Amino acid sequence: MTSLTPTRDDKFSFGLWTIGWTAADPFGSATRAPLDVVEAVEKLNEIGAYGLTFHDDDLFAFGSTDAERQKQIDRLKQALADTGVIVPMMTTNLFSHPVFKDGAFTSNDRGVRRFALRKTLRNLDLAAEMGAKTFVMWGGREGAEYDAAKDVRGALERYREGVNMLSQYVIDKGYDIRFAIEPKPNEPRGDILLPTVGHAMAFIATLEHPELVGLNPETGHEQMAGLNFTAGIAQALEHGKLFHIDLNGQRGIKYDQDLVFGHGDLANAFSLVDLIEFGGPKGGRAYDGPRHFDYKPSRTEDYDGVWESARANIRMYLLLKERAAAFRADPEVQAALKAARVAEINETTLGKGETYQDLLADKSAYENFDAESYYNGRGFGFVRLNQLATEHLMGAR
Ligand code: GCO
Ligand code: MN
Ligand code: MN
Repeated sequence: MTSLTPTRDDKFSFGLWTIGWTAADPFGSATRAPLDVVEAVEKLNEIGAYGLTFHDDDLFAFGSTDAERQKQIDRLKQALADTGVIVPMMTTNLFSHPVFKDGAFTSNDRGVRRFALRKTLRNLDLAAEMGAKTFVMWGGREGAEYDAAKDVRGALERYREGVNMLSQYVIDKGYDIRFAIEPKPNEPRGDILLPTVGHAMAFIATLEHPELVGLNPETGHEQMAGLNFTAGIAQALEHGKLFHIDLNGQRGIKYDQDLVFGHGDLANAFSLVDLIEFGGPKGGRAYDGPRHFDYKPSRTEDYDGVWESARANIRMYLLLKERAAAFRADPEVQAALKAARVAEINETTLGKGETYQDLLADKSAYENFDAESYYNGRGFGFVRLNQLATEHLMGAR
């Protein structure tokens, strides 16, 4: 049975920059006051989250003195100790300060690249100290607006150089940390490097320590590119590269909306929860890491609305999990899956030990195969299966 009350095992986590977003946008100033980190931890604990994540600059402003920085770290540690909330993931802000206007690891300016690596190394030390197991790298400013302005091959080499150096650092220090690259197609840059899950996976395969580097895909980012998030997550799982996940909502190909999870493409959110909760061995979890919400409470909301929307993420996830469980348990669904031959994809196409010579000799595979019977017959019944899924999603069954 699934339950709508969150527990620590659900592993719900939130970025400090999400609930703490003061809602300034390119067209208007903030509509909310800044949120203190101690209050953030207490409230997250109250609503049933197990984790808080943050960028260095979310906790202490860029350019803080060592004393200011330490004071904030100590306040956070105390709040974590008081509540039992943990920091499963940390990340570096390499996009807010003007110095990063042309990127960080891939800025055309070598001095900026060296500064970005130093900022990241310092933050890796803090991540290890906080016990974070995942270090996210979202390269929002790594990109360009103008084709002539960026040597993309050179930029990818510098990206690789940076990630290789950071990996070596983690190995030498003995840190129990893995990196997760977060793809995004655009915004704030016109075009961002490593724009999709697929681009990032191809890049990871070229690294010196690919085993240390995986992905942090975000719902809205794949959907901004018109891609199917669930399918991207399935491929990341297939490659063993789903190290972390950013859940939120997006409605179609437009700016990054960062809506509450499930408030965008609900059908895709349903298949995603079904995949990560029940798509693993023996119908268990296919992904066991944090269920991390990277959303923005709308600028129309006051702090009551912020916490209401934070709760909504959790509730949407648990409701979808409940609906997916009901879908899987329904005998009519099981029959429809069978009729649709969904499990047959896991049978190898060639028999055990069968070679192409054997296949060539098999008349039933070609000469006697009745391809014509696929005209006006032999439908798969996928629409019926999808109707059943949608009815479960709607609570109609
Ligand atoms: C965005 C990104 C960020 C990252 C965050 C963690 O589009 O703004 O999703 O929110 O997830 O910087 O690295
Ligand atoms: Mn985003
Ligand atoms: Mn994100």
